[in-house]
Amino acid sequence: MKFFLDTANLEEIRNAAAFGIADGVTTNPTLISKEGNVDFKEHIAAICKIVSGPVSAECTSEDAQGMINQGREYAKIAPNVVIKCPLTREGLKATNTLSSEGIKVNVTLCFSAAQAILAAKAGASFISPFLGRLDDIGENGLVLLSDIVEIYRNYTWPTQVLAASIRHPIHAIEAARMGADIATMPFKVIDQMFNHPLTDKGQAQFLADWHKSGRQ
Ligand code: E4P
Repeated sequence: MKFFLDTANLEEIRNAAAFGIADGVTTNPTLISKEGNVDFKEHIAAICKIVSGPVSAECTSEDAQGMINQGREYAKIAPNVVIKCPLTREGLKATNTLSSEGIKVNVTLCFSAAQAILAAKAGASFISPFLGRLDDIGENGLVLLSDIVEIYRNYTWPTQVLAASIRHPIHAIEAARMGADIATMPFKVIDQMFNHPLTDKGQAQFLADWHKSGRQ
């Protein structure tokens, strides 16, 4: 399973890249706006300089033609830019056109297996089911992820399953267990994945014993 960073923060992306686990980046308008008044295209270009894998840049037009225009423009920023389109009727029209032009599309805001099937048929390169936001309304996001992985296995659709809206390490572990192609996570969740009290305790003990024996 690939790890994408779900952030537009350059420092977080650099930190994850230092661990060798930044296979790509997903951004959205909310994440970009958290970075202040940055120039969108320049900021995406800066991310693409840190990460060589897919970097998602989200369209903000509401109609298909507007998304197609934005997608064509953003795709010129760097070869690894992926265009994010919402799972709406207009979004899938744009997905179909952009994909047919060889521009990769990540279809976002997926909340049902039916929607995931439509996105694959439209030519999406990635489908992003949102786990955490389903959990938030009392539905099980992991069940949706499992359904999509199972359905996609029946076909040779090139669409990769990108588990999104990941809130904690259990989401990441279960996505890996199910065989999701990618999990996109906030830096905080990747950081949480390191933690185990026995690792800290064991390391402290090893070093204490080492120094107690007079070694430096
Ligand atoms: C995915 O590409 C989205 O940017 C993201 O995972 C949304 O996560 P959230 O529900 O935590 O905002």
